[in-house]
Amino acid sequence: MELNQAISGRRAVRKYTDQAIDERTIRCLIDAAIHAPNAVNQQPWAFTVVRDQNLLDRVSSEAKSHMLATMPETTHADHFRVELDDPKFQIFYHAPALILISAIAQGPWIVEDCALAAENLMLTAYAAGLGTCWIGFAQSFLNTSDGKNMLGLPDAWVSVAPIIVGHAKEVPSPVPRKEPNVRWIG
Ligand SMILES: Cc1cc2nc3c(=O)[nH]c(=O)nc-3n(C[C@H](O)[C@H](O)[C@H](O)COP(=O)(O)O)c2cc1C
Repeated sequence: MELNQAISGRRAVRKYTDQAIDERTIRCLIDAAIHAPNAVNQQPWAFTVVRDQNLLDRVSSEAKSHMLATMPETTHADHFRVELDDPKFQIFYHAPALILISAIAQGPWIVEDCALAAENLMLTAYAAGLGTCWIGFAQSFLNTSDGKNMLGLPDAWVSVAPIIVGHAKEVPSPVPRKEPNVRWIG
């Protein structure tokens, strides 16, 4: 697939089939992730792959309660509250796999490094016919000690990018983009 096609065609997928994602496919995605640019080539990332659906259900439920209890007032807070309050809402959309990218070293750019790795992973998944979605709803809980315990993450790790992966049940419509705010100097 052409790079332009992957960049413009990738969508956040929120409906998945039950089809499992095998280890080889996940390793290919992680291989793409680790080719991301990263500050001083520190490669400060680790990848935690969760395919246990019971565990994902439990993390979802705890993350929802955590978000409801700690969520700051934002422009979307009311909408988020309704969604998070719905017992039927599972934040991972029952995707067959979660790949959590954690920052495992210290430094001023570890979050940027992991986010770039996440974008590589999502574009590569799309080119391989898979859907992905970054689950920000999980991030804050996965940085608490309870959240880290649930996935067996060391205390010092920072959970940056929880990315769900699976086969899309339906192709999401394109999400419109605003005109970019571009300033030219010279
Ligand atoms: C940091 C980040 C956090 C996100 N968190 C969520 C989330 O918790 N749940 C969700 O359904 N989508 C989440 N998304 C997906 C965005 O809503 C989506 O990327 C955006 O609406 C644009 O749509 P597109 O990815 O299809 O272009 C997140 C995306 C990013 C980059």
